[in-house]
Amino acid sequence: MAIERTLSIIKPDAVAKNVIGQILTRFENAGLKIVNARLQQLTRAEAEGFYAVHKERPFFNDLVEFMISGPVFIQVLEGENAIAKNRELMGATDPKKAAPGTIRADFAESIDANAVHGSDAPETAAVEIAYFFGK
Ligand code: PPS
Repeated sequence: MAIERTLSIIKPDAVAKNVIGQILTRFENAGLKIVNARLQQLTRAEAEGFYAVHKERPFFNDLVEFMISGPVFIQVLEGENAIAKNRELMGATDPKKAAPGTIRADFAESIDANAVHGSDAPETAAVEIAYFFGK
């Protein structure tokens, strides 16, 4: 199995709920290492740039507003199969459909405030990590 890196963001709703530590513990317990991290208030331009791929979608403005509504905790996770492992730990985008015991099932309220982001493929992981942490 390949050692991968993936970008993870703990979104403003989960930061406000004071569950950064509980979410990081899930990553660590699953064998993922936090190899870079910071707490950051995104600017509108940073959030729009990060989600540029979704700019034609109807929820784009709501997503950007939400992502700048408070600080986010951004980290790079490393480990075997890290991209898929992180997505599995996160659960489905809509917390109502997320499997029990996943981060979104336990900490998210709704599809627009869904606690965490995780890269969905090796190519996007590389782009997203470079976006926030450089090469
Ligand atoms: S995914 O995970 O990328 O396959 O999900 P997708 O459905 O394509 O959604 C892309 C991101 O948009 C967020 N999203 C929404 N935000 C606000 N309102 C609504 N209705 C909504 N639907 C989806 C979703 O959480 C994804 O954000 P990230 O940060 O990538 O998880």
